[in-house]
Amino acid sequence: MLDAAYKLVRPLLFSLDAESAHELTLAIVSRAPFLAPRRPPPPSAAVEFAGIRCPSPVGLAAGLDKDARALPLWERLGFGFVEIGTITPRPQPGNPRPRIHRLPQVRGVINSMGFPSDGAVQVGARLARLKESGRWPSIPVGVNLGKNKETSEEDAAKDFAEVADRLALFADYLVVNVSSPNTPGLRSLQLTEPLLRILDSVLQVSQEKPVFVKVSPDLALDNLDATIRAAVGAGAAGLVATNTTTKRPGLPEHEGTPGGLSGAPLFPIASPGVHAAAAICGELGVPMIGVGGITGPEQARDYLDAGCAAVQVYSGLIFEGPGLPSRINRQLFGA
Ligand SMILES: Cc1cc2nc3c(=O)[nH]c(=O)nc-3n(C[C@H](O)[C@H](O)[C@H](O)COP(=O)(O)O)c2cc1C
Repeated sequence: MLDAAYKLVRPLLFSLDAESAHELTLAIVSRAPFLAPRRPPPPSAAVEFAGIRCPSPVGLAAGLDKDARALPLWERLGFGFVEIGTITPRPQPGNPRPRIHRLPQVRGVINSMGFPSDGAVQVGARLARLKESGRWPSIPVGVNLGKNKETSEEDAAKDFAEVADRLALFADYLVVNVSSPNTPGLRSLQLTEPLLRILDSVLQVSQEKPVFVKVSPDLALDNLDATIRAAVGAGAAGLVATNTTTKRPGLPEHEGTPGGLSGAPLFPIASPGVHAAAAICGELGVPMIGVGGITGPEQARDYLDAGCAAVQVYSGLIFEGPGLPSRINRQLFGA
């Protein structure tokens, strides 16, 4: 029903530029969540990782509900948890539009958003209002932390800690995002030394909420190994892998399009890193959230079989529609 309705409206949404379609959809469903019928996951889908209990291991990835405008919606669609953000300490507009490009032939997306954010204060106020209203979701909420564009690499740790300090009380887990390609210099924070400074600052204000680190699919396997071991050694509770790629596999016409690639063409790029990272996390005894190119149950199954405790989707929703999480739940966990 939901999938059929989405098939009807998709041509309309795809006739708009991608970001306007995104904003329109969020505006409608956040005002009228009943348009999305409830699709609870089957009881057998429930998981627990890092002390977080989720009704399903299928979560919403960061970036879709950056400023927590539609937080009550996601559990209706069957998501087992939701990650808001990336949130920066101070509000910032992000890069100029257009900054989301759909590649419908390959079911991919290239985005160069650059962390548009309402900022931690405003998002905190929105979250507080939601708590008071009694509409807070019953699924866990992760908060993805970032730095402002103009903040230097030396001062990055302060930015991450400021967002954590303001928002940890609302979060079931926090994510240090050092892997978006659209904030200059951000990905160099994955290197051991700056990452440890950030983790150290965030852990001091995290109110004992588990802190995950989100990594890029473009890290060489050696560096991935070093990053995970250093992060876990410093107290990270787990890993989120992966973010978008700056590679353009089989897409020479998009070599010059700035931004990170996600969706179906990301899967073959992300998958080796997800498998390698899941093995390292397994050895270290920490959970990993697998993300990157999940467009249906097959890829979700692949990541879970590799040892991921949970998975996340974003781009798949754009092409497959809002029925995707419940379709994955049904196929992996039964009726
Ligand atoms: C338009 C867009 C915006 C995104 N914004 C963020 C973000 O703010 N923070 C973040 O950690 N990841 C962000 N991501 C990355 C996703 O969370 C995810 O890691 C990536 O898209 C791969 O998953 P997918 O192939 O299922 O989309 C964004 C992705 C897209 C497509």
